Amino acid sequence: MKEHLVIFDTTLRDGEQSPGASMTKEEKLRVARQLERMQVDVIEAGFAAASPGDFAAIQNIARVIKSSTVCSLARSSENDIRRAGEAIAPAVRGRIHTFIATSPIHMEKKLRMTPDQVVEAAVRAVHWAREYTDDVEFSAEDAVRSEVDFLCRVFAAVIEAGASTINVPDTVGYSVPTVWGELMRTLIERVPGAGRVVWSTHCHNDLGMAVANSLAAVLAGARQVECTINGLGERAGNASLEEVVMAVRTRSDLFPVQTRIDTTQIVPASKLVSQITGYPVQPNKAVVGANAFAHESGIHQDGVLKHRETYEIMRAEDVGWAQNKLVLGKHSGRNAFKSRLSALGIVLESEEALNAAFGRFKELADKKHEIFDEDLQALVSDDEMTPPGEHFKLVYSRVCSETGETPAADVTLTVGGVERKAAGIGSGPVDATFKAIESIAASGAQLLLYSVNAITTGTDAQGEVTVRLARQGRIVNGNGADTDIVIASARAYLNALNKLQFPDRLDPQGDV
Ligand code: KIV
Ligand code: ZN
Repeated sequence: MKEHLVIFDTTLRDGEQSPGASMTKEEKLRVARQLERMQVDVIEAGFAAASPGDFAAIQNIARVIKSSTVCSLARSSENDIRRAGEAIAPAVRGRIHTFIATSPIHMEKKLRMTPDQVVEAAVRAVHWAREYTDDVEFSAEDAVRSEVDFLCRVFAAVIEAGASTINVPDTVGYSVPTVWGELMRTLIERVPGAGRVVWSTHCHNDLGMAVANSLAAVLAGARQVECTINGLGERAGNASLEEVVMAVRTRSDLFPVQTRIDTTQIVPASKLVSQITGYPVQPNKAVVGANAFAHESGIHQDGVLKHRETYEIMRAEDVGWAQNKLVLGKHSGRNAFKSRLSALGIVLESEEALNAAFGRFKELADKKHEIFDEDLQALVSDDEMTPPGEHFKLVYSRVCSETGETPAADVTLTVGGVERKAAGIGSGPVDATFKAIESIAASGAQLLLYSVNAITTGTDAQGEVTVRLARQGRIVNGNGADTDIVIASARAYLNALNKLQFPDRLDPQGDV
């Protein structure tokens, strides 16, 4: 009988600490719903004390999510822990994850605390957290560069104080599998009370070893892995959820554990996170890259056709690929549309939202013969991101792009309900359109990223555009989808401008 491996997803917290990956409250809820659908055990929904936006997003997720534990991060201060406790209060199962640094360099240079003070603060934090929930996780930040004797001392003290999960982070991505596994084994052997808690590993990918290190920790006794969708996260990212889950499942001959993840939800989760954050997935990324199951060489193709397992260790459909199927068309009715959305786990809160989405579906079906699940996902995101009352709205756009001529664009927008027109020229049709929009909006924002992806295949596919803008230290992502990529681009640009316009709809990143 295999032991249960807890999958702790921190896409919404550590993942969101990737530059430019900040998500709105609505976007976070969509990701959380997908994580729940995937049967993630614990969703780290954010860092409640970081900002009112983060607090509200966690509380919102705690209200809606029923079958995953909802967790908030908190430093070891009383204020942080009380904010975390309040944010998770509505959850069916809520966890507080508190941490303090334990390495000499962090204690001395960052915290300016003595080791005794750190132990005291850690114990106090766990006591405060236990006032809110029995499910308290403690992390020793920068455990990788901490002294083992000191780690044993801190961990013993917090277990005594009531922590039920002990997390060992490689905060700076410095370890290698043999060393990381050995540290986990030593801690489990030496820490008094080790048998009463779940041991957890949290690895960063600075040397490209986050997944390997996490798996080594599992072989040494860890029973929780902290990870993110697509390996998103601070700097080089965190251990990727899909790689950890599929390694454990595919090599069940080696790992004495199993997860409860519905692996068919992995690719939809990957696409959703990539779409929302504007972080593309590299084509050769394990499990979720577009080429992860593509066989280019003739020898491989021949082998796979004769017997799939000659070159494939996993089945594409088991991780949610091959869902690119025709679902709806021009003649599909509102009920078929609604039931397909619900099969995709998309919940539109009101009749108005459903009607608006259905209207856009009909428009799309007029332009595009075959509508796939991915088109529906993009269409609904687009609707969610353009709520009624938005400040900048596209009314009309036209571009002229000819060989040998400078591309020119005309746009009509409504700005706060008032119609405005402008023209622009640029190095290409998108550039001309953005210049025309800027001549109205005068946002002064800096364009950090512009990317286009085809949502499905074929020249009639919708282009999905991400625009990342920065202004006064704030970074936002805007998305837009349309069969016309200039219109998709204009929508994405306006979506980003609307987010800059309404800061209260954003969750600024926590400074952890
Ligand atoms: O990397 C890290 O140390 C963290 C902790 C807050 C767990 O993210
Ligand atoms: Zn981290």
